[in-house]
Amino acid sequence: MTNKDINNQNGVNSIWTDILGNNQQPDDKALLAHLRNIHQNNAGFTERCASTCRDKAGRNSYEWLAEIVPDIKGTRVLDLACGSGPLLKILYDRNKNLRLKGVDMCPEELALAKARLPDSAVDLFELKAQNLTTIDDNSIDVVLCHWALTLMDPITPVLNEVRRILSSGGRFAALINGPMDVAPGYRDVHNLIYEYVQTKLPKYGEIDLGDPRIRSTDSLEHLLSEAFPDAKINIDTSVVSLEGPVAKVAETTAGFFYASFILPPEIRKIMLSKLSDLLVISKQTKDIEGQGHFSMPINRLVVTK
Ligand SMILES: C[S@@+](CC[C@H](N)C(=O)[O-])C[C@H]1O[C@@H](n2cnc3c(N)ncnc32)[C@H](O)[C@@H]1O
Repeated sequence: MTNKDINNQNGVNSIWTDILGNNQQPDDKALLAHLRNIHQNNAGFTERCASTCRDKAGRNSYEWLAEIVPDIKGTRVLDLACGSGPLLKILYDRNKNLRLKGVDMCPEELALAKARLPDSAVDLFELKAQNLTTIDDNSIDVVLCHWALTLMDPITPVLNEVRRILSSGGRFAALINGPMDVAPGYRDVHNLIYEYVQTKLPKYGEIDLGDPRIRSTDSLEHLLSEAFPDAKINIDTSVVSLEGPVAKVAETTAGFFYASFILPPEIRKIMLSKLSDLLVISKQTKDIEGQGHFSMPINRLVVTK
């Protein structure tokens, strides 16, 4: 039986979930193995979810983050944890004269990025964000990171690497979760998904992926001001939303929660049905063709070195 079959039957099982199941704190190796497991079997899932959610101005979160990159010929940009490459593609389509690089630890994600971008347009590297060995000091003008900073632990070596590779006056911009209550209904969605996940792993939530300091604005600002002592730090909050057939909206919504990947199919099915009940726009429409709505808070963090 392949790894994929095992996941299909039981939800994702990894060293990380085993350790959590024993009520212990998983280490960084377990975290990487868990993320690898999810991404090698579901490459491209973040893009499928995130590209469909839009803010009031009609932008998805990739487009909002990409606005940080100036349209200046030769600007050197690194997409940290680039995944399947949607952000690099937006930048390449916008301006062929940017100098683009992408790194990710997952070869299956990088293969998708490589397939959509000409070899000459982007340099892609399989690297961990904690150790960007092939990227020279002061060689990047903008480091971008979309939906990945919250997964990284230890985080301090990542921030130190970003500081090392950024040129003077360079910018580090990351898209991360925003404050829960900014988006109506988001906390209920979060709580519902974690309720189901906790039937399998009671500690999931109390212990989560990545460094918890990235999840609150205060601790994040503190962490950043330690890593970038003289830098200007700015955090903007926004909300992105999605509407469509409610079953589809529920599937996409669940994709934003790594925790949902551990659910065995039969529990996942029940969870998705409850999630549809929560997301349906009109309670009058009982059939699965009813329309659903999901809103999510996002933060765009910008550090200017
Ligand atoms: C949620 S996905 C985001 C992918 C892409 N940035 C996007 O938004 O479509 C997280 C990505 O982070 C990568 N990742 C997680 N931890 C990493 C680390 N320590 N070093 C490098 N890549 C990492 C994963 O392989 C995955 O591709």
